[in-house]
Amino acid sequence: MPRTSSNASTTVTVARARPQRALAKPRKAAHRTGAKTVSGRGNKGASPGPVVLVTGASQGIGAAIARAFADAIPGVRLALVARQEKKLAAVARECVARGVAARAFVGDVSSESDVARVAAEVQAVWGGVDVLVNNAGSFRPGRLLETSVADFDAMIATNLRSVFLVTRAFAPAMVRRGCGDIFNMSSIAGLSAYPTSAGYCAAKFGVTGLSKVMRAELRDKGVRVCTVYPGATLSPAWEGSGFPDERLMPAEDVARAFVDVYRLTRRTVVEEIVLRPQAGDL
Ligand SMILES: NC(=O)c1ccc[n+]([C@@H]2O[C@H](COP(=O)([O-])OP(=O)(O)OC[C@H]3O[C@@H](n4cnc5c(N)ncnc54)[C@H](OP(=O)(O)O)[C@@H]3O)[C@@H](O)[C@H]2O)c1
Repeated sequence: MPRTSSNASTTVTVARARPQRALAKPRKAAHRTGAKTVSGRGNKGASPGPVVLVTGASQGIGAAIARAFADAIPGVRLALVARQEKKLAAVARECVARGVAARAFVGDVSSESDVARVAAEVQAVWGGVDVLVNNAGSFRPGRLLETSVADFDAMIATNLRSVFLVTRAFAPAMVRRGCGDIFNMSSIAGLSAYPTSAGYCAAKFGVTGLSKVMRAELRDKGVRVCTVYPGATLSPAWEGSGFPDERLMPAEDVARAFVDVYRLTRRTVVEEIVLRPQAGDL
């Protein structure tokens, strides 16, 4: 069973392998524009705010994106996805403490069956998502000729296959509603060659290509698609790298870009965001 702690306005739930009961009525596309969100923390008595699903939300940039939406969008409902249940639940609690609803959905976004289960759970609770942030990813260094097949496959699975699976699960409802936002996390390694990162670079270039197709196919369906290309950003992924923290961008800066782009009127799409440390790439 899901573990739940709740009060009138906020809830932390850890969804596990079995589908959970609906805890709230699925909402009918109440949220239509990025700019028009409901006001009032905790969303008491107001129409519900957007449902924002963030993959890879248990730490790093994904957790920062969740906190940024919690701080900036009153009434937002956060669906947080990752594999590590405890860390994910901790981030959900942090967001709830900021006055919004947040739920943890445990799953591997490179697994077709996990993504299908998470999609069913989110559907049961909130009836779909308004904003999808395909952030989950991982990095394994390796020069081309020294990269094992297993490592290459892992890079493709977590960074690229995941974007395909999760988007395929949630975008159809956006198309039916004629409204939605999709953010895909690429990297500056998805823009130019990074020797010693063969698998990662291939996967992030793949994200770039997939995003361009999404944008082309969903443009006339009311769904905005934005590809994000950060350079070195401070997160647990850089632990032990030896670089001073000041040399990397704060995850909060990258997260803020998502919120700022989302808040523009629906007449405007930001197709790409490139962010780099002011002192240059690492
Ligand atoms: N930090 C940078 O310098 C940088 C630069 C450019 C792009 N990026 C991209 O930004 C994204 C976030 O990076 P980060 O630095 O925050 O990395 P991070 O600290 O390693 O966090 C990665 C997140 O992805 C989740 N994740 C990984 N594989 C997953 C899977 N199969 N299923 C579900 N969740 C999974 C992890 O959660 P669990 O382990 O709990 O599953 C974690 O929450 C990645 O796509 C990364 O490639 C980062």
